[in-house]
Amino acid sequence: MEKYVIGMDIGTSGLKSIVVNQTGQVVDSYSISYQTQHPYTGYSEIDPNIWYEATLDSLKHLMTKYDSNLISGISFSGQMHGLVVVNRKGDVIRPAILWNDTRTSDEVENIKAQLGLEFLLEYTQNTVLEGFTLPKLMWLKTHEPSHFEDIYKFMLPKDYVIYKLTGHISTDPSDAAGTIMFNVKEESWSNAILEKLGIEPSICPEVIASHGKSGELTKEIMESIGIENAIHVYQGGADNACGALGAGITDDSMQLVSIGTSGVTLSIQNDKEYKNDGKVHYFNHCVPNQKYIMGVTLSAGYSLEWLKQLMSAEESFDEFLKDINQTKIGACGLIYTPYLLGERTPHNDADIRGSIVGLDAKTSLTDIKRAVLEGITFSLKDSIEIIKKEGKCISEIVSIGGGAKNKNWLQMQSDIFEAQVTTRTEEQGPAYGAAMLAAMGAQWFKDFDEISRAWIKYNDFVSYHNDDVNLYKDLYKIYKTVYFNTKQISKELVQFK
Ligand code: XUL
Repeated sequence: MEKYVIGMDIGTSGLKSIVVNQTGQVVDSYSISYQTQHPYTGYSEIDPNIWYEATLDSLKHLMTKYDSNLISGISFSGQMHGLVVVNRKGDVIRPAILWNDTRTSDEVENIKAQLGLEFLLEYTQNTVLEGFTLPKLMWLKTHEPSHFEDIYKFMLPKDYVIYKLTGHISTDPSDAAGTIMFNVKEESWSNAILEKLGIEPSICPEVIASHGKSGELTKEIMESIGIENAIHVYQGGADNACGALGAGITDDSMQLVSIGTSGVTLSIQNDKEYKNDGKVHYFNHCVPNQKYIMGVTLSAGYSLEWLKQLMSAEESFDEFLKDINQTKIGACGLIYTPYLLGERTPHNDADIRGSIVGLDAKTSLTDIKRAVLEGITFSLKDSIEIIKKEGKCISEIVSIGGGAKNKNWLQMQSDIFEAQVTTRTEEQGPAYGAAMLAAMGAQWFKDFDEISRAWIKYNDFVSYHNDDVNLYKDLYKIYKTVYFNTKQISKELVQFK
């Protein structure tokens, strides 16, 4: 009988589940959307039980179609950095504070002032930024001290769901790294950081391998999803690590560009001597002993989603983007900067806001759509430029997520990045990496090389056109100046919010 694994990606705007067979083929998928809350400017929160309910509904749905005996395991990919806190009874204390929440600028400044950049880099190999978990915890300490006192454990988003499914609290190195309380090189919680900031080490979850077994579905869960055989749950990894694994990025030969709600450029960095100066993130992969560097655009797919909601919420993305080649490169003189929620790489600026520069009486909606796609892609190029400076050659890219679904956007990526761009034949974003972790946990393969060779296949490369590369180079020079010219304006506009 054919066996299956289930990969689930707990994203920012929805949960995607896929069922994968032993040859790596995606035989089924199911998605549920949910919404984050933005009660104040810069805030981004959600009740973690929304993820849990969505997980239960998805499993209920899938289990009406598959015999639980044939499911060898479930694993997870999750949005990174989100702070979930539970009390001794295991109940969530407050809504989760998410990766794109930027309320913590004061905490970031205080942590830097108290510890110093050198100390942070020595003990975590990263600097601290608003989106990361550590300043969120410090924000709680200052602004909600009774909630801070109540913390029994903190967890990352996928870890909370696993806890609800199995009763066990654990995390994995790829998600622990994004807390900035974890020593990436030593692969353990950084007591030096915890001690200096007055964080009780016992609130940190146990760290197990991403393909390690977290537990089994509890009796209550089995009953509620209508199955009789317990299914094993494997820990899973951070969404970008899972995205990279599912895209076959386990060595230096290709780089990842992932466009989900956020946008990410990622490159493997296994050099033992590597020292991060804080310009990029340097995190553990979900593949044992591997590490990567990456740059992040906060509002990549989110920019497009925002625009579609404003212009024509009912349309599909395919419909919405069908005319973008009816306008020229440069969208008839428009530039968009995607700073709807501030920006991470390269500016690390929580206060900057987006802009559309160059509006003209002739500007069409199509121009605006194209400018938004170009702006998102330029912001990813900003990260690519930094990664190149770290000594990486970026000539072959695997694109995943929203950016992989539109052939005009893929061509744009190739031209803007000046690189060959390919996509997976079974393109499912991070959920596929989660399914691979479940397959590894279930010992379907002897190592990660074997599963990658067996499961990862690519479509033909899209190649760049030299004339268009040159046009985009000129446009990118102008794009880069928009940040510096709108920095002060963004600050002054805050009073009108
Ligand atoms: C990475 C980051 C985002 C989230 C959400 O540092 O903050 O990519 O993981 O996808």
